[in-house]
Amino acid sequence: MAVCFYSNCLAFTQHRRIVPNSSCNKVERRVNLTRVVKPCTEAETSDGTRVFVMSDLHTDYPDNMSWVKSLSQRTESVVLVAGDVAETMDNFVLTMSVLKDKFQHVFFVPGNHDLWLRRDKSHYLGSLDKLDKLLDACGRLGVETKPTIVDGLGIIPLYSWYHESFDGERDITGYRIPSLEMACKDFHVCKWPDRLKSEETSLALYFDSLNDENWSRVKDIQRQCSHIISFSHFVPRQELCPEKRMLFYPNLPKIIGSKYLETRIRSIHGAEGSASSCHVFGHTHFCWDAVVDGIRYVQSPLAYPRERKRRMNGGEDWLPFCIYSGGNFAEKLSPCYWSDYYTVNPRTPEITQLAPWVSKYYTKIR
Ligand SMILES: [Fe+2]
Repeated sequence: MAVCFYSNCLAFTQHRRIVPNSSCNKVERRVNLTRVVKPCTEAETSDGTRVFVMSDLHTDYPDNMSWVKSLSQRTESVVLVAGDVAETMDNFVLTMSVLKDKFQHVFFVPGNHDLWLRRDKSHYLGSLDKLDKLLDACGRLGVETKPTIVDGLGIIPLYSWYHESFDGERDITGYRIPSLEMACKDFHVCKWPDRLKSEETSLALYFDSLNDENWSRVKDIQRQCSHIISFSHFVPRQELCPEKRMLFYPNLPKIIGSKYLETRIRSIHGAEGSASSCHVFGHTHFCWDAVVDGIRYVQSPLAYPRERKRRMNGGEDWLPFCIYSGGNFAEKLSPCYWSDYYTVNPRTPEITQLAPWVSKYYTKIR
């Protein structure tokens, strides 16, 4: 995710102390919450495939590329990379090559940064052309981009893009808040055919329709697999992002998610979900691990180096996060500032007074 204003804003919010005031009935805790992340260890490898998840590697940052190169080799393992690997094709290919050396299976879905044309614009006709070339590169590298069964586990990558109407909560008024075009680089460094516009639903619907050609594979997975992980770059539900008044860019929810994505997820996992349903996402750089309406939603972003320094759990030690081993999903939810917050606090989007750590950056309209 790249929001130009207050570029460290997303991680900054994870440091604030907020006093829980009541229980939240929207987010369920399916299992016990622990404050200690217990990564899968080598001792746990004897009982089959392990699945690690991560997103937002942003390996154009040398620190992040070094982190990827420093990962240990994991036998019988799968890694799901939920988008925003790198801005340039060279860094993308290098990153995925390194991951292929370390994991038996590497899965990928594209994020917005992967489709930016800022640095190697002359190589592509547009962002869709770059998408084709990224997928071709994945094919050559052996990186998987289609629904597949690995050791009895169904893994389903889902294409998506955001649309403004994903945001169904009240806007913050009374402050001078920059427009989406000013705040979000995607509007300037992605290039789409005239029929597709990110401020409407056409781009989100187009990306959603790319999943249709894989749907017979999805049906096979539903018939054959008791456990299924789906994953996307973008956010499927607004409850998986803090409320606007807490965000350094309060209009962030307009450029993060897709309702069509949540419809896809529910058609895979069912309206009520189950204990064997999980969806992994990325993009906002907020660590998340919570069960909402029966599905476990997880975000484990590497994020920018400056964000990691401010994050509650750092991120270099416990990533990539092991979500599945021994034929089951990780028993305990991992501690994440905001998903923990919403476990005990209800969403109150009707309150539109900016949080004190945000309001100081904005001018009131008189
Ligand atoms: Fe992103």
